[in-house]
Amino acid sequence: MTNPKPKDKKKVPLNLSTENLIKYGLLILFAALLDVAVVLGKELSLELVTGIYFIVALLLVIMYKDFIRYNPEIKKDYKMLVLIGTLLTGNLLIGRIFFFIIEGFTKWVGTVDPVLVAYAVPLASGPMLVALLIDIHTAIVFTVLTGLIAGLWLSNPLYSIFVFAAGLTGAFGVISCRKRSAIWRAGLAVSLVCVFTSLVITLSKGELLSIASLVASSSAFLNGIIVVTLVSALLPLFEYMFKRTTNISLLELLDLNQPLMRELLVEAPGTYHHSIIVGNLAEAAAEAVGVNPLLARVSAYYHDIGKIKMPDYFIENQIASVSKHDNLAPRMSSLILLSHVKEGVELAKKHNLPPMIVDIIQQHHGTSIQTFFYQKAKEQQDNITLLREEDFRYPGPKPQTRVAALVLMADAVEAASRVLTDTSPARVSLLVDRIINHCIIDGQFDNCELTLKDLREIKTHFVYLLTSMYHKRINYPGFDINNENIDKKPAKAATPR
Ligand SMILES: [Fe+2]
Ligand SMILES: [Fe+2]
Repeated sequence: MTNPKPKDKKKVPLNLSTENLIKYGLLILFAALLDVAVVLGKELSLELVTGIYFIVALLLVIMYKDFIRYNPEIKKDYKMLVLIGTLLTGNLLIGRIFFFIIEGFTKWVGTVDPVLVAYAVPLASGPMLVALLIDIHTAIVFTVLTGLIAGLWLSNPLYSIFVFAAGLTGAFGVISCRKRSAIWRAGLAVSLVCVFTSLVITLSKGELLSIASLVASSSAFLNGIIVVTLVSALLPLFEYMFKRTTNISLLELLDLNQPLMRELLVEAPGTYHHSIIVGNLAEAAAEAVGVNPLLARVSAYYHDIGKIKMPDYFIENQIASVSKHDNLAPRMSSLILLSHVKEGVELAKKHNLPPMIVDIIQQHHGTSIQTFFYQKAKEQQDNITLLREEDFRYPGPKPQTRVAALVLMADAVEAASRVLTDTSPARVSLLVDRIINHCIIDGQFDNCELTLKDLREIKTHFVYLLTSMYHKRINYPGFDINNENIDKKPAKAATPR
């Protein structure tokens, strides 16, 4: 039998599906808003308004094409398109309103050229917000577009360069931003770059040693301060409205004094320590494969919070030698274990954890099978045909992102390493290999984009960290720690004479 040939998709020149209609609608809307931002305050004519409209629409289409090539998921993520469009138009409109106010003020003072105070217009706030909320690639393209449109507005190509320099400095300044105070450092860098660029521009015009140069550089210095104020005020608003998670909010969740982590420590101390180790493993592997290490660590910290409800049923929290599962049917034990994923998701939503972390909690076991209880059920059941493998599988879904897959692997490897008696690097390596290969064969990574190179890097880092964790120490001289009877010897206390 031959394999059926995949059907060729017919390309329709103008496909008016709902998806495309939404995209065209967004393009028309944002192009109109940007048109307003450019022509506002100019002598209006139909030619000018139409011409600028088509220029900005063309720029938006180019930007969209780049985004879908770089990040194909954006194609169906209208929320992301709305976020980028809102930031682009909002940034330029705020800039124009700001310019309108200071232009009025300078006209009132009467001695300053309003064009010089355009150097204070905070157009770098958009690129900074994009770098914080989305990623640096999007921020770079966003900055190019902002610079071009700002140049159109003032009909001045040098101003495009000024906006480009300020925007890129702001975006790169917050790339690895892990504290809100780091935004202020980036703002200072924006101020310095703005001053330098404004001086270079005045130099190119032959006005370096003039009052114009002083006004331009003072305005440019103010630029960074206004940018930081705007970014600090708007960032929490965008995080909330578009449910975006920045490194700053992840860092706040990393604090082990968070109520949920404290509850985990008190209720399920074994799970708490397991989660910390999973965090170390996931973070190291995330750095190696180029995904967000902070997201990996935070998700690992919270992946098992569902165990808070019934901690004693999970082996890492069992202190007594008798297991709670001894008197339960395997199916019942399996149901209790399965429930920790659902409970975890509910608890995470209740505590307003970011959606990315809720998803990873949901996916951290994928659709893997609880082998122990499935085998036990098989041994106990007389009629094996009544036993369904699906009943012992986690509900999934399988990991949808590389970070979720990393947490799944780190979790499985950490749990399995607990049974090792020989913790030599060779044995640990064998164990890591077996666990990860089993996940691949079971199809757990079918929905995420892990490469074989990624898997090799992940294995190397897991083996290195686990062997370091189970390292042996030499006995302390004078303390025979391995001798159980040492404390039972009668103490040779000096008797008073
Ligand atoms: Fe779990
Ligand atoms: Fe776990």
